[in-house]
Amino acid sequence: MPKNCPVFSASEHDLDQCAERLRQDEILAIPTETVYGLAGNALKGSCAQAIFAIKGRPLIDPLIVHCASQEAAFNYLHPHPVIEAVAQRFWPGPLTIVATKRDLIPDIVTAGLDTVAIRVPQHPIFRKLLARLDFPLAAPSANPFGYVSPTQAQHVLKTLGSKIAGILDGGPCTHGIESTILDLREPDNPAILRQGPIAQSAIASALKRQLPDRSISLDANCPQRAPGQLLKHYSTKAAIDLFVDHPPPRNASAKSASKIATVLTQRPKAIYPTPDCYWLSESGNLEEVAHNLFSLMQKLDQSHYTHLHIQLAPNTGIGLAINDRLRRAAAK
Ligand code: TXA
Ligand code: MG
Repeated sequence: MPKNCPVFSASEHDLDQCAERLRQDEILAIPTETVYGLAGNALKGSCAQAIFAIKGRPLIDPLIVHCASQEAAFNYLHPHPVIEAVAQRFWPGPLTIVATKRDLIPDIVTAGLDTVAIRVPQHPIFRKLLARLDFPLAAPSANPFGYVSPTQAQHVLKTLGSKIAGILDGGPCTHGIESTILDLREPDNPAILRQGPIAQSAIASALKRQLPDRSISLDANCPQRAPGQLLKHYSTKAAIDLFVDHPPPRNASAKSASKIATVLTQRPKAIYPTPDCYWLSESGNLEEVAHNLFSLMQKLDQSHYTHLHIQLAPNTGIGLAINDRLRRAAAK
């Protein structure tokens, strides 16, 4: 563990310390209900610059702005009845809204776009931190660019610990995958930009209309419809292959076969599962699969495995978001 990275608890004293560091323009890792974020003052371009540098992220990929309340969020985006209705229904929570921005947000945060991505998070410890600040926090997921997102403080410590001013430990993240992103640039023309914990169907019923899924079609030839929709993402060192019902045959030698881990969505029926077999949920509960996914991928990637054979989830509810992450992770 890097010596120079303090780990803060959720005590009032430690939260005060974290708030003070953020006021001093330092960059901290913070827990959210989705994944850990790499946070700094969203109103200062220099903080955004530092976040991009720590993460190794290209400046063309904008950051999400996290606000303490709905009221605070509407200081930074132009209101519209549809946006207000969606915010009322889903905030605080794992839904990011993309809308026309106000000038207070520096251009570097939004990669020069005239829109901003905003959410009001639900995580109680993160909310206590935001309540201490009079500015919002820009925060991408706290992973090096292109790697799997962190769902525990120790994931951040291992990868970025030497580069940040501290980490606020809020325990494992509940949802385990990043927020759903809803495009409300044209409020009467809503679209999903990223699948996530808030299901597309829940948004459709709140809006009382169907909406398209514009997260990348996973066709490498299809241009991105929004920044950040890279086909290859969440990449482990181990090569990933996906399957629906049956894992790919292991016709390799016994030695190399032992370097293959098979990951199922639920515990196999056999009493004695084969060695090197793991599962993401006892019963196949998709919320649990999402909660455990990135954590298990990182654990297996740090062990001796060179190949991960991972089962796709059913294409329903949060299963759509799980499969989106898996397809990107498997992209070569
Ligand atoms: O759950 C989450 O959303 C986490 C936690 C920390 O809040 N954050 C997160 O941030 O996943 P990041 O930076 O890893 O992903 C944000 C995505 C990127 O794909 C980015 O391109 C997109 O949001 N985004 C940001 N601003 C946008 C904008 N104005 N228009 C379209 N997409 C935008
Ligand atoms: Mg990310």
